Amino acid sequence: MATIETLQIPDYEKVIVCKDSETGLHCFIAIHSTRLGPALGGVRIYSYANADAALTDALRLAKAMTYKTALAQIGIGGGKSVIIADPRKDKTPALLRAFGKVVNSLQGSYIAAEDVGSTTQDMLLIHEETPYIAALPTISSSGDPSRFTAWGLFRGLEAVSETLWGSRSLRGKTISIQGLGNVGSKIADILFWQGAKLIVCDTDPDKVSRFCHIYGAQGVDPADYFSTPCDILCPCALGGIINESSIPLLKCSAVAGSANNQLNESEDSTKLHKRGILYAPDYVINAGGIINATAEFDPDGYDPCHAREHTDRIYDTLKQIFNESKKKNLPTHNIADATAEKNLAEGIGKRTVPIF
Ligand code: NAI
Repeated sequence: MATIETLQIPDYEKVIVCKDSETGLHCFIAIHSTRLGPALGGVRIYSYANADAALTDALRLAKAMTYKTALAQIGIGGGKSVIIADPRKDKTPALLRAFGKVVNSLQGSYIAAEDVGSTTQDMLLIHEETPYIAALPTISSSGDPSRFTAWGLFRGLEAVSETLWGSRSLRGKTISIQGLGNVGSKIADILFWQGAKLIVCDTDPDKVSRFCHIYGAQGVDPADYFSTPCDILCPCALGGIINESSIPLLKCSAVAGSANNQLNESEDSTKLHKRGILYAPDYVINAGGIINATAEFDPDGYDPCHAREHTDRIYDTLKQIFNESKKKNLPTHNIADATAEKNLAEGIGKRTVPIF
């Protein structure tokens, strides 16, 4: 028998915990804000050490989603769900369906999507119990988000170039990419055709060799990534990589990449600012994927050209953040947070037509 309990957490609209002894489901769903639209957020399935750790993760990620969606102006709010389970052993169809019923009980104020530990196939099972799911693997879906993440990243790199060197052109600029996965490989391709010089780094040496061969790139060992001189450091792999150890090593004019949670702590943005290194806040520059996924909710149906145009606006959003940072002599991260909070307070980008 499933039990759903509401937790009172200050600054969060709704947080629930659900336990179901029949399927072993133990999950939290955190809705941070629906001020601009229903809260969207991935379903993280992970063997958390305890319930407190799972709740803390859900709260942190839900709030981060609010800021990301507020700045992208996509009529979506911030939420997240976490299921305490080992995705390799515990993820049974019955557990996923039980989770679907919990999502359904929120009546569309939370929309679930794939995340660490869950797959688009899992979303199909959850969808059997609820319509409130985004980015399903169907023919009418918006497809691989990384195409749009890479395009938004490119537009963000242009904003960096315009701000630092007075021209959007990246021709001749040295851009150092960490991580040649879904996003890193696509941005490498775009930048090659734009005439940039590439430095590439991955833990997989075969990928590095291939990219050196096909893009004339210079490969660097992961241990030397941060100290290798470049114009723009473009982290597209891990979070927490901008920290007290890496910041003193940097020999670049800007940090602008797709990786989520690049700053180990928000103070690291201040440290970059003090060093005169322009930081493109990660949740602004990597929003292309979520912009594309939520384009599925457009009243006229999914249109990739609309999604591309919306993703293009990352250029303008970043230019505004960079200009304000310069004017006020404040770190870009602080300006991005303040802009997101202003959008929330004033309802900028609020959804006007309900999704469901
Ligand atoms: P991915 O898993 O496809 O690629 C990651 C790549 O990084 C792999 O090639 C891996 O070998 C490499 N890597 C791992 N550790 C490394 C290290 N220490 N040094 C160098 N390379 C390392 O991931 P994906 O989808 O390309 O995402 C990259 C980053 O962008 C992640 O932080 C992700 O959260 C973020 N992001 C991705 C979006 C998307 O649309 N895929 C959307 C928004 C953010």
